Amino acid sequence: MDEKPYSYEQLQGFAEYITQQTSLRPSVGIIAGSGQGALAGMVEDAVVITYKDIPNFPVSTVAGHKGQFVIGKLNGKCVLVMSGRFHFYEGYPPYKLVAPVRVMYLLGIKTLIVCNAAGGINRDFKVGDFMLMKDHIGLPIAAGENPLRGPNDNRLGPRFVNMSDVYSLHLRKLAKAVAEEEGLSHFIREGVYMMLAGPTYETPAELRFYRTVGADVVGMSTVPEAIAARHCGMEVLGMSMVTNACIMENDLEQKTDHEEVLETGKRQGAAMCKLISKIVEKMDHN
Ligand code: HPA
Repeated sequence: MDEKPYSYEQLQGFAEYITQQTSLRPSVGIIAGSGQGALAGMVEDAVVITYKDIPNFPVSTVAGHKGQFVIGKLNGKCVLVMSGRFHFYEGYPPYKLVAPVRVMYLLGIKTLIVCNAAGGINRDFKVGDFMLMKDHIGLPIAAGENPLRGPNDNRLGPRFVNMSDVYSLHLRKLAKAVAEEEGLSHFIREGVYMMLAGPTYETPAELRFYRTVGADVVGMSTVPEAIAARHCGMEVLGMSMVTNACIMENDLEQKTDHEEVLETGKRQGAAMCKLISKIVEKMDHN
């Protein structure tokens, strides 16, 4: 490895900086993707901590991604919302991508909700749908970019981590029940998220390949964070917003662009934020 991953003590230092800014002790961590930015605004009595104020903490480089931890109450539960995540395509080594999740763990957070924008390749999915992640295929992970690569610190978790149950069945059931109550169940799908390194969108031939091997949506995030969360024993709910239908054939007029992704995020963002806040409310801890 070119760089030394953050030590346990460095991670503790990040967590201590945060605990010095607020007496609130969140039990749920939420990583907001494009389209879920409004979640941070729903947090009451919010204490906002900007990444760049945390000594030596990574900073976010994507335009429109804020780079803040927002800690406060969401529907009565104490949460930490990560507004602006780190992406592999920005050039971070995987251990940096997962530093926020490890900090959440050191803050005592037991449950992670991780959201993303994704392109739909399952023919039954519509733009604007929400897909509960049942499983993932982490292509960069399989190629060696695993955030757990390198020396293991047993204080964070074990060397070898089971991956047959990354996305909590209990939380998926809760999410479906809440969607039903909120009249949002027509948007709910369940499936497999495939992570790609990005930042290029996929070619039609690649997309047909990914569909053949079992992916329902494709995106450029989430899997490293979910791995780190499972490593340290957190329960994970993963949710994708299908922001665009992937273009599976060559020689068509349509193109995938970032504008479409952002546009769907805006249109469906409020519904997804409402769903997440209601799920948080119904979780069985404080
Ligand atoms: N591909 C990869 N990542 C994405 C997409 C996509 O089509 N849409 C949103 N994130």
